[in-house]
Amino acid sequence: MSDEKTTAVPLPVPPTRVLSGIQPTGRFHWGNYFGAIRQYIDLQTVGESYYFIADLHALTTVREPETLRGFVRDAALDLVALGLDPEHAALFVQSDVPEVTELTWLLMTVTPMGLLERCHAYKDKKARGVTADAGLFTYPVLMSADILAYDATIVPVGEDQVQHIEVCRDLAGTFNHLYGEVFTLPKPRLVESGARVPGTDGQKMSKSYDNTIEVFEDPAAQKKKIMRITTDSRPMEEPKEPEGDHLFDLYSLMAAPADRQAMAERYRRGGFGYGDVKKALVGAAADFFADARRRRGELAADPGAIDAILARGAEKARAKAGDVLSRAKRACGLSRLTGMATVQAAKGQGGRRNSGGGGS
Ligand code: TRP
Repeated sequence: MSDEKTTAVPLPVPPTRVLSGIQPTGRFHWGNYFGAIRQYIDLQTVGESYYFIADLHALTTVREPETLRGFVRDAALDLVALGLDPEHAALFVQSDVPEVTELTWLLMTVTPMGLLERCHAYKDKKARGVTADAGLFTYPVLMSADILAYDATIVPVGEDQVQHIEVCRDLAGTFNHLYGEVFTLPKPRLVESGARVPGTDGQKMSKSYDNTIEVFEDPAAQKKKIMRITTDSRPMEEPKEPEGDHLFDLYSLMAAPADRQAMAERYRRGGFGYGDVKKALVGAAADFFADARRRRGELAADPGAIDAILARGAEKARAKAGDVLSRAKRACGLSRLTGMATVQAAKGQGGRRNSGGGGS
């Protein structure tokens, strides 16, 4: 009918699925929180969302079983305490979804060696003389499976992971080209590293610089660290531009706007002491994370609580990953049983019974 062609049919809008993975390689510090985690958590309401703790990836660096177990638990507690809402987002542990490792193999068969050789994470470690195992080398393939298993459309990541999302899109594209439209191509969402988070020495806060302040560090230890933050050598009587001063930058992340304003004025007036700024920072940090700390304490005190959250998350994640995996297996000629079931269903419709065993 001709008027069918002229009627604008709205295209179906694909659902938004946000996914992100976080490696459990130690306690989260302020740099992790303000630079990434806060922004990941903010995206949990954008659509369906999946957040996992990438313990399989961590296995390429953490070699102590008890340490790894502890890191995974801490990461889960920290994330929920910091606002990840398990009612809303599926929070789970990567290795609780074995479908992903199976999918990794399927992707591995369409992964050119050269593509992995060009990946920065591997190249950099190799350049630093870290002996690479196949786990480190194929890390981006596992990461691709992580993303594709949930039909994720948006993957919030830091700059350093963007290349891996490109690898993921590349592999998904190759697979789709070979076998039909199996995988959803994800898009990276670069988290603005606009929040510059200086460490205790004024450099970017990073574990590799040993200058971190952990979010849930014991308050007394945290205070000590803050009081030892290096300061500018200019005399404190001199008026100073607050922006760019690392103490002020840290304070700004956590202080209420009016307090931040007042502090900026003190800097510009001069005659202030860095000790006072540090004390103000101790207070601002305590207030800023007070609710999260309380929530974390409550959660940690209830031994089964976090496990129940992770179990529920894994169940939801497995249901989704299972669908995608069988789609992929069917497409590439695996899943003989699924194929047979289809054949048998067809036979059943023709009125024949089948008694199991080797087919007709
Ligand atoms: N490689 C990521 C990192 O180190 C963690 C990660 C694993 C991830 N799988 C993922 C992030 C999938 C996003 C999507 O930060």
